[in-house]
Amino acid sequence: MKILVTGGTGFIGSHTVVELQQQGYEVVIVDNLSNSQADVVDAITSITGIKPHFEQFDLIDREKTSAFFKKHNDLSGVIHFAAFKAVGESVEKPLLYYRNNLVSLMNILESMIENNIPNLVFSSSCTVYGQPDVLPVSEKAPIKKAESPYGNTKQISEEVIFDTVKSSKLNAIALRYFNPIGAHESAKIGELPIGVPNNLVPFITQTAIGLRNQLSVFGEDYNTHDGTAVRDYIHVVDLAKAHVVAVRRMIESKMKQSFEIFNLGTGTGLSVLDVIKSFERVSGEKLNYKIVGRRAGDVEQVWADPTYSNEELGWKAMKTVDEMTASAWKWEKVYRGKR
Ligand code: WQD
Repeated sequence: MKILVTGGTGFIGSHTVVELQQQGYEVVIVDNLSNSQADVVDAITSITGIKPHFEQFDLIDREKTSAFFKKHNDLSGVIHFAAFKAVGESVEKPLLYYRNNLVSLMNILESMIENNIPNLVFSSSCTVYGQPDVLPVSEKAPIKKAESPYGNTKQISEEVIFDTVKSSKLNAIALRYFNPIGAHESAKIGELPIGVPNNLVPFITQTAIGLRNQLSVFGEDYNTHDGTAVRDYIHVVDLAKAHVVAVRRMIESKMKQSFEIFNLGTGTGLSVLDVIKSFERVSGEKLNYKIVGRRAGDVEQVWADPTYSNEELGWKAMKTVDEMTASAWKWEKVYRGKR
């Protein structure tokens, strides 16, 4: 079984390639390396002993995408990660985000239909829920107006997929991620933010290792147990495993409808200070941080109701927050050459 992983040298993509290979799938990676590095392919190979086929081109290029799918028309499925995903940048450059994220998806959908490739797993996000009225948030929760063009590209993408599935023989599963953190236990792959990290955990580990001098905690006046914002942090390997379960579900025709949506979270909400405490516990480091004002666009609290994923997919997030922060710290130290 051959699976295409777009964005396969990225954070979640690379971890998913490892899990796919270890479960016997042949993997082809397409990535334009706009937010990742080619040596991730070697890192994946060093973990699994199997070198994935890798092609570098931009999926917004319709001709190149069409030619690729013609060459690989024996694909059993596609897992589509490749997209721009920086919330703040999407506010400054909306057209860049709409063009990149939507045109690449449409090129992929067209080529899959042209070549009778039936199965698509789409990388979506809990940002589609905005600030949910009810917590924990299930897949039945209403979609709220996106807080950013990035979040809107995820909402629009789901709609584009829904309409395409209805009008073709395509099957699709959208996986709505909560907050993916951590790294593979080998510390050979992990989160590689380019420049100053937007996300919490890479900023924590870069502060602890001395790359950043202090973490700013965005807000301590939220209506939460300790005043800092709450999220559902999930280990990237647990997340990667869910993608293999989803692809197998489609290949084995276990789907109940041609477009399915699943929340991928632990079901536990943790505050910023909870994560900092976990990091200090596992690293033995005292983290240098200060409380500052809220960050624009942040929701107060969101965590998943993972019941549907647990029962219908037969998948459950297993790793604890300490395992997540410990793996992120190990990755940071190994990547920066410090043991
Ligand atoms: C988490 C919490 C911040 C940095 C984003 C995307 C989402 C998904 C995950 C792609 C928040 C606080 C952060 C810092 C802080 N990405 N924080 N200081 O915003 O929940 O979600 O990443 O799919 O789509 O929107 O994640 O890690 O940026 O923030 O206090 O330096 O940590 O305010 O409460 P977020 P995050």
